[in-house]
Amino acid sequence: MSLERTLIVLKPDAVQRQLVGQIVGRFERKGLKIVGMKLLRVSPELAVRMYGVHEGKDFYEPLVEFITASPVVAMVLEGVEAIAVCRALMGPTFGPDAPGGTIRGDFGMSKRYNLIHGSDSPESAGREIPLLFAQDELAEYELISDGWIYARSDGQLI
Ligand code: RTP
Ligand code: MG
Repeated sequence: MSLERTLIVLKPDAVQRQLVGQIVGRFERKGLKIVGMKLLRVSPELAVRMYGVHEGKDFYEPLVEFITASPVVAMVLEGVEAIAVCRALMGPTFGPDAPGGTIRGDFGMSKRYNLIHGSDSPESAGREIPLLFAQDELAEYELISDGWIYARSDGQLI
């Protein structure tokens, strides 16, 4: 069980539909710590760096058009197993397939506009976080609730 950081991006549809507060609130109430957060417009160059792994697929061009269409909110969240925990909160890729209780399941109907991106592995997080955040834009701090979000056992957070 390791403390991880993950990149979360609230996509243009989430910002345009004014769902930022509700979505951020889900991560906060779960106990994830916000260590970086900003609103920005993704440039075509940044879109290629974020989604280059999908280049050549039929959905690639529309995906770049979507992610660059309007501002996004990018966050770095920290917690034990944060990558998998955030992916579970997000739900499957598209709203119609995503169960109720997940972000995509509760807020989305589309097979293109799917509200949120989250890193899918430690390697992806390690590659993606520096694309959006400089080191001095990430904060190291203690939450007063840290001691009640996790128990401690043999020096580990559990
Ligand atoms: P993300 O990377 O955005 O967190 O989403 P994901 O892991 O759930 O899905 P992934 O397979 O990595 O796809 C990245 C994004 O590309 C769009 N997409 N469209 N068949 C399609 O039309 C299709 N497949 C993927 C989605 O915006 C997806 O989030
Ligand atoms: Mg992905």
